[in-house]
Order: sequence, then structure tokens, then C-alpha cells
Amino acid sequence: MSEEKKIAIFGSGGMAKDTADVCKSMGFKSVLLITENVKNTDKYQSVHENDVNKLIKSNFKFVIGIAKPKTRKKIAQKFRKLEYTNIIHPSSTILGNTEKALAPSGTIIFPGVRIAGRVKIKKHCILSLNCTVGHDCSIGNFVSIMPGATVSGNVSLASRAIVGSNASVLQGSSNSEKLKVGSGATIGMGSAVMRNVEADQTVLGVPASEVGV
Ligand SMILES: CC(C)(COP(=O)(O)OP(=O)(O)OC[C@H]1O[C@@H](n2cnc3c(N)ncnc32)[C@H](O)[C@@H]1OP(=O)(O)O)[C@@H](O)C(=O)NCCC(=O)NCCS
Repeated sequence: MSEEKKIAIFGSGGMAKDTADVCKSMGFKSVLLITENVKNTDKYQSVHENDVNKLIKSNFKFVIGIAKPKTRKKIAQKFRKLEYTNIIHPSSTILGNTEKALAPSGTIIFPGVRIAGRVKIKKHCILSLNCTVGHDCSIGNFVSIMPGATVSGNVSLASRAIVGSNASVLQGSSNSEKLKVGSGATIGMGSAVMRNVEADQTVLGVPASEVGV
């Protein structure tokens, strides 16, 4: 008899609930949310963080359904030893060798995502609805790419970068000279990024420029 598929999702917000819906649609029979404040008023049952050991014993797999990279990282550091799994919705497309290059740990690929060939994706990334990632991109740990964003080919997104909804990032000149978005950088929704973005910078607009300095 095949074992029941079980997933426990850190988070209680919209991203966690969307992740739960994706998992349900992929045939997971038990889908739980893990929170600090258990309310259980939602469609999905919540359990407290302190109960994680019970979930491990019951063979749950884990994923972090929180959009903010910093928070995702905090949880991954607090709960290091869990078996994080990738959630890849079957309506997404992953070309070439990209799937092999996906680190097997906690990345969520939502419905409608399109990823070209030779893309490397590290751990705990969220690629939200209908975003696209071009060829030869390199995506660091805890990156969030929001709905409808377009990351062109030969782009490097360093750890904890956020690409806002419907933003576009210009292609890099070549595989070895990628356009670079630094760690912790944020690209505002709808922006068009034409050149490198420094670490922790927030850029906005068309063409995108730095804000808040
Ligand atoms: C870029 C961003 C992080 C800035 O957030 P913030 O620091 O809280 O900034 P504020 O909302 O205070 O806005 C500051 C100014 O920038 C403008 N602004 C904010 N985001 C903008 C954007 N994406 N494009 C153009 N202008 C923007 C605001 O109108 C405001 O202008 P004002 O000072 O003239 O009123 C945020 O607006 C953003 O785009 N986040 C990504 C959201 C996203 O993709 N969510 C996905 C949900 S599924």
C-alpha cells in the first residue's frame, strides 16, 4: 500500500494557504499549517510550532509558505533538521536540465510558472503564479519571484532577493556575464530592471532606479 502523502506548511497567511491549495490539488491527503498562534478557523488545520516533532514522527514533509525571504530564512534556521520537500505544480513547465539542478529542499513552484533550460535554483525559493525565468539564470537561497514577474536569461538573483509582481529583469550579456541582482535586494512590482542591483537595494519604476537613499 502506498504511503499517504503528508505536508506541513510553515505560515498562516495568503502564501501558506495558496501553498496548501496547491498541495491539495497535487494529491497530498494531509495538509497542515504550522503557526505560532493556532486558531483553526480556516479550511486547513493549524498546529503549533512546538508540535513539529510529532509531525516528523508521523512522516510529514515540510515546506515554508511565507513570501518574505528573511522570515523564510529564520524559520529554516530554527528548524534545520526537517525534511523539506520541493512542491512543483504539474501545470508549471521546466525545460532542459533545470529540474535536475533544483536543490531538493523547500522550493515551491506555483501553477503556470515557466522556467527555461540550464537554470540553477537553490533552497527555499518561491516562484509564484505565472512568473517566468529565462535560460541560464542562477537563483540563490530564499529568493521570491512574485506573480507574473519575468526574469530574462542570464540573470543571477542572489539569496533573499525579491522580484515584485509583473516586474521584468533585462537579460545578462552572457552566461558568464550575468545581470546581477544582489542579496536581499527588492525589485518593486511592475519595474523594469535594466542594470545590476546592489545587495539590499530597493529599486522601482521603468527603468528601475534606487529609492529611499
Ligand atoms: C517596492 C516596494 C517594496 C516599496 O514598498 P515600501 O518601502 O513600503 O514603499 P511605499 O509603499 O511606502 O512607497 C514609497 C513610494 O514609492 C511608490 N512606489 C511603491 N512601490 C512602487 C512600484 N512598484 N512602482 C512605482 N512606485 C512605487 C509609492 O507610490 C510611494 O510614492 P510616494 O512617496 O510618492 O507616495 C513595494 O511597493 C513593492 O512593489 N513590493 C512588491 C510587492 C509585490 O510584488 N507583492 C506581491 C504580492 S503577491
